[in-house]
Amino acid sequence: MDNMNNKVLKIENLSIAFGGLKAVDDLSFDINEGEIFGLIGPNGAGKTTVFNCITQFYKPDEGKIYFKNNKGEVEDLVGVKTHEIIGKGLVRTFQNIELIRELTVVENVMVGAHIDFKASLFNQFFRLKKTREEEAKIRKRAEDILDHMGLLAIKDMLTAGQPYGVLKKIELARALMLNPKLIILDEPAAGLNDTETLSLVNLIREIRDERNCSILLIEHDMKFVNGLCDRICAINFGKLLAIGTPQEIQKNQEVQIAYLGKEDD
Ligand SMILES: Nc1ncnc2c1ncn2[C@@H]1O[C@H](COP(=O)(O)OP(=O)(O)OP(=O)(O)O)[C@@H](O)[C@H]1O
Ligand SMILES: [Mg+2]
Repeated sequence: MDNMNNKVLKIENLSIAFGGLKAVDDLSFDINEGEIFGLIGPNGAGKTTVFNCITQFYKPDEGKIYFKNNKGEVEDLVGVKTHEIIGKGLVRTFQNIELIRELTVVENVMVGAHIDFKASLFNQFFRLKKTREEEAKIRKRAEDILDHMGLLAIKDMLTAGQPYGVLKKIELARALMLNPKLIILDEPAAGLNDTETLSLVNLIREIRDERNCSILLIEHDMKFVNGLCDRICAINFGKLLAIGTPQEIQKNQEVQIAYLGKEDD
């Protein structure tokens, strides 16, 4: 493994196929510490599959995924269990929001303190109630994060029935509970209106600045991506098209043809 000095994640020659379809094909990119990094590409390009490989929801056929964990140690995530990865400081949100609608807003955020993600969110919430003291601490942390996001007023309301933009923020709040070094967000702005999108841009920047973490996100909204990301990686058919600053990516011919479906403006 080579130098990870200023990097938090380094993906090398990642490939995975489903049947005959190469969903990710020899893809390499890396993310600097403190960077907001965008992964773009047309529908079906393989973006979510890359996320699923990083978090080991899928086991890649080939490739390395080096991550600098919250102890500063570099390790290859391939073969590591999903819930262990979360404990190392890498958390995600989902393309389709995954929250427990029957719980209150603050309770959903509290679930994030439990690293056994995904297995059964509902059970985890009840397992979480170990001691009153411990629960009080976790609740306080969840409330602080909600406060920061301007959601403290609704903390005791039921999650079901909250507007879409709020649900997205609750999911993000839950991800922050483990003080992640890298947060990966699958289409965080999808379904948001212009005001909500702008508020999310500011929120993600604040999270990066104040928490000293890196962010990897997938998004189709190019205004959002260009306005927020330090660098962007464009893929098509699972293959790398280009990596660069938003300006470089916007100018890139191959990206324009593949992603925007046009040769020029
Ligand atoms: N579990 C799976 N089994 C079979 N095929 C899959 C699986 N997961 C993804 N694929 C296929 O891999 C390709 C990439 O899918 P993926 O969900 O990664 O695309 P995406 O870039 O996230 O697209 P979108 O922008 O629509 O979310 C698609 O052809 C998809 O059908
Ligand atoms: Mg996707």
